[in-house]
Amino acid sequence: MSAEPVVHVPKHVAVVMDGNGRWAQKRFLPRVAGHRQGVDAVRRLMRVAGERGVAHLTVFAFSSENWKRPEEEVSYLMELFFKALRDEIQKLHDNGIRFRAIGDLAALSPDIQQQIRAAEQLTANNRALTFNVAVNYGGRWDMTQAVERACAAGHPTNFPQYLAFADQPDPDLFIRTGGERRISNFLLWQLAYTELYFTDTLWPDFDEAEFERSLHWFASRERRFGQTGEQARAHQALPSKAIQ
Ligand code: IPE
Ligand code: IPE
Ligand code: MG
Repeated sequence: MSAEPVVHVPKHVAVVMDGNGRWAQKRFLPRVAGHRQGVDAVRRLMRVAGERGVAHLTVFAFSSENWKRPEEEVSYLMELFFKALRDEIQKLHDNGIRFRAIGDLAALSPDIQQQIRAAEQLTANNRALTFNVAVNYGGRWDMTQAVERACAAGHPTNFPQYLAFADQPDPDLFIRTGGERRISNFLLWQLAYTELYFTDTLWPDFDEAEFERSLHWFASRERRFGQTGEQARAHQALPSKAIQ
């Protein structure tokens, strides 16, 4: 890890937290032990992301396809999400964090939906960091629901405005832990010009040093948004929303 401070801190970081099951299996533990450990890694990331000046952090907690897992694992993940939200929300609020859930929330249990609404309401005016949790989220679902809502409003071409967190900037940095190089139906539209960072580190092991490495890698990228390198260097910091 370099001691030099990172100059270009991403405004929005989106993370596919993968590798919990393998982390546990390597230790001869049940897969769910990895999910439990993964919550600590989320807590840690939230803290360091805030300290480093990231304004929006989005984590993929449960995909539209994760319902296909064994029922015990699905219930464990739902319970873990419910408890973490219930136990942590006051601390998030005290730290000025705004909580948002994105995904097809109607399919979640009434308890979880109620907990989400309460957490969103409590933290709605906080501005230190926006923490988005993608739960029962899929990029294809997101695009479909956005088109449906835009059509219902009579403005089909406005559909990007109906996507999850359309009021927030597109992610600048995407991180996927766990060694796979794929999107797995995470943000499809919003990742159009995002820098993609992959690491073999399993999610529960993703610590401050790992995050710092990803920030250094990000700072070394030249974002061109379709322009030439010369143009990009002349107009650095082109807002990602300018890209459609
Ligand atoms: C990511 O870890 C967490 C969720 C998908 C909920 P995995 O559970 O996918 O872990 P691996 O990929 O099996 O190791
Ligand atoms: C992506 O991980 C979803 C989450 C991290 C919540 P998966 O483990 O479900 O992805 P695949 O199945 O390996 O593509
Ligand atoms: Mg996985």
